[in-house]
Amino acid sequence: MNQKNKPDQPLNVLVVCLGNICRSPAAQGILEANINDRGLNINVDSAGTAAYHIGKSPDSRSIATLALRSFDISRQQARQIKQVDFECFDWILAMDESNLNDLQANCPTALLHKVVLFSHFSGVNESVADPYYGSDNGFERMADHLERLSQCFLDNVESEL
Ligand code: 4NP
Repeated sequence: MNQKNKPDQPLNVLVVCLGNICRSPAAQGILEANINDRGLNINVDSAGTAAYHIGKSPDSRSIATLALRSFDISRQQARQIKQVDFECFDWILAMDESNLNDLQANCPTALLHKVVLFSHFSGVNESVADPYYGSDNGFERMADHLERLSQCFLDNVESEL
């Protein structure tokens, strides 16, 4: 990766799922906490590829699952990705292959290098399963997965410093 995390110039990261109410708000909250713990200069935002939930709080199951792990995502508000995001962010991290395909279809060709699966940095391309229609256990598995992928991403950023 060629993006750097210079002290005077934050790295800007956008995490993206479908609705921006389950996975990407959780990813944002986990990344922000892990970034703070590591003392890194990284801004994180999240967005959905779909417009269904614009302006809404994260899903109550995501809020509750993350709160039990000491991550507060309750004040986030869903938004849809916009074209300017492809310019403004250094990394655009998709939760699953469907999100990745949607993002790649809308991203200017010259900026496609910014758009990857969140799991890209773990060395294995694996989707973060969508827990929206499943049982509460799906939110636990989502949180476990996101906590692991967050550390992999930040390890990669730090290895490039
Ligand atoms: P997310 O989950 O993409 O992780 O926020 C979903 C949220 C809402 C819907 C689908 C997935 N939906 O169909 O409304």
